[in-house]
Amino acid sequence: MRDHIKKILLDEEKISEKIKELGSLISRDYEGKDLVLVGVLKGSVMFMADLLKEITIPCCMDFMAVSSYGNSTTSSGVVRILKDLDFEIEGKDVLVVEDIIDSGITLKYLMEYLKGRKPNSLEIVCLLDKPERRKAEIGVKYKGFSVPDEFLVGYGLDYAEKYRNLPFIGVLKEEIYK
Ligand code: IMP
Ligand code: MG
Repeated sequence: MRDHIKKILLDEEKISEKIKELGSLISRDYEGKDLVLVGVLKGSVMFMADLLKEITIPCCMDFMAVSSYGNSTTSSGVVRILKDLDFEIEGKDVLVVEDIIDSGITLKYLMEYLKGRKPNSLEIVCLLDKPERRKAEIGVKYKGFSVPDEFLVGYGLDYAEKYRNLPFIGVLKEEIYK
C-alpha cells in the first residue's frame, strides 16, 4: 500500500499536534454550551476520534453520510444524504467535522440542510482545506492545514474506499487513479 504513495504530506506527529491545538480552541470556545460534533462519514472518522479525545468539555457526537464523489477523484456536484442524524439538534451548538474541503459543494449543501434543523449555532471544523479548488463559498471556523491541489489519501481519506487506514496523509501516485 505504501508504494502507492508519492510522498507523505503530513505525518502522524504533525497531525496529532494540530488536533491538540484544535481541541483546546474548541474546548475554550464552547465552554458552557451544548456542543454536538457531527462527523461526515466516512472520511472524518479518524479525525473525529482523535479530536474528541482532545476536547475537555462535555459533548455529544453524531454522524451523517452524504455522497458526492463515487469512485472518481473530482466532485460530481450532486449531493445525496445517505444517513441522517440520529438526534435532534434544535437549540444545540453544532460543529460539523469534515476531513477535507475541496470544491466546498458537499459542505455548502450540508450546512443549508442542518441550518433548517434550527441549531443554536452551526460551525465547521476541517482538518484539510484545498482553497485553490473552491467553488462554493463557506465559512470555516476551525481549519487544520491548507493543502495543495493534489489527490490525498490516508488518515480517513480514500481513493475508491482504500487507503483510509494509513496513519499519515500522503499524495497518491497519479498512475493509480489515471
Ligand atoms: P467537495 O464537495 O468537493 O468539497 O468534496 C469534499 C469531499 O470530497 C471530502 O469530504 C472528501 O471525502 C472528498 N475529497 C476531496 N478531496 C479529496 C482528496 O484529495 N482525497 C480524498 N478525498 C477527497
Ligand atoms: Mg468527506
